[in-house]
Amino acid sequence: MKTLKLCGGEVVNPDGEKKGRLDIFIEGDRIKSIGTDLGSADETIDVSGKTVFPGFIDIHCHLREPGQEYKEDIMSGTYAAAKGGFTAVCCMPNTVPAIDNASVCALVLSKAQNASAKVYPVGAATKELKGKELTEMGELAAMGCVAFSDDGRPIGSGAMMLAAMQYAQTYGSFIMAHEECLDLKGTGVMNEGLNSTILGLPGIPRAAEETMIARDLILAESYGLRVHIQHVSTRGGITLIRAAKQRGVSVTCESAPHYFSADDSWCSGYDARTKVNPPLRTPDDVAAVKEALLDGTIDAIATDHAPHHKDEKNIEYALAAFGISGFETAFSLAVTNLTQDNDKLAALFSVNPSRIIGKPGGVIKEGVPADLTIADMEAEYTLTEQSLVSKGKNSPFIGHALRGLVTHTIVDGRLVYSGGASCK
Ligand code: DOR
Repeated sequence: MKTLKLCGGEVVNPDGEKKGRLDIFIEGDRIKSIGTDLGSADETIDVSGKTVFPGFIDIHCHLREPGQEYKEDIMSGTYAAAKGGFTAVCCMPNTVPAIDNASVCALVLSKAQNASAKVYPVGAATKELKGKELTEMGELAAMGCVAFSDDGRPIGSGAMMLAAMQYAQTYGSFIMAHEECLDLKGTGVMNEGLNSTILGLPGIPRAAEETMIARDLILAESYGLRVHIQHVSTRGGITLIRAAKQRGVSVTCESAPHYFSADDSWCSGYDARTKVNPPLRTPDDVAAVKEALLDGTIDAIATDHAPHHKDEKNIEYALAAFGISGFETAFSLAVTNLTQDNDKLAALFSVNPSRIIGKPGGVIKEGVPADLTIADMEAEYTLTEQSLVSKGKNSPFIGHALRGLVTHTIVDGRLVYSGGASCK
């Protein structure tokens, strides 16, 4: 079996015993030992001065395959994920066709076999994401779907959402809910407020998100069900979730880097790279998202990587597609705008995501799969479009100065990405 040794890195391991400046010896796809004087390996990588995290897990992304490979495909998307430090990703079911049956799920899994990151599909909660008829969740869960979602096409009916939550729970699974009331959203394209008025763009009220969060928290609480709230973006939504957690409701949630790194003033140039759903909110919401990530109310940072073709973005704001290409900037945005506390970063990118989806990860110890993310915490660079390997170049952070950079990503003992300098 091939052996690989990582030398001299600072091991960050909030849930593990071994931490600090240590070597890691990998044999095949597993971590064999952690310590010093571990002997020689077939290959050695000097990671001194760098920080070694348990592999990052992104519980919310869009890989676009099948059906929209002009935006992204599983190979390009997972390479972008690996460049961002993600060793595993959960891909949302709003593909074309949707991941709502065994054959589409099988296709995703087979394409993922040679990918640069592990791919855990999230199945559609309803057929064709239409919100009318439940999918065969048992079959999809048995194939490997880690959860079920209405992402991108919210379930409007409370009764259908309740049925989906109950049915998922029957199979030991749960719903990842996209919280958006389409009636309240109307034709909105950015956050409703002063900036939307100034720009003359139709607004998306915070109530569109918060009413649906309230509905699903009440369903979870009333019926003893588990729910995961996706891409939380408002202070009001966070307040609801925090209170529900205090009451013991079985709820977890995530937010995306753009919700703690940018606000709706960024839309002022009509740059459609800022168009995302939920929309960029106000500075007060940004502050609330940061507080909630740091106090544990928000469990995980998930990218909601939503790549689009330039022809869908370099157009009039009102007509452009919603979404931000997020894999390659998530970690740097967290280091730059949220925290430089390594344990906190490990919790938000690895420990908690692994717990939410019930997959291995979040800890560096003997015997576990060798999924590791190595970063240079001091690196500073300006993001360029050319550096992005995702097909989706739709990032509002291009041209911005960032700090903290992933330099190596290891999946099952395989070095799937090494670099970093090219971005500087
Ligand atoms: O901005 C978004 N883009 N939000 C979503 O919920 C879906 C996503 C997409 O699929 O492009």
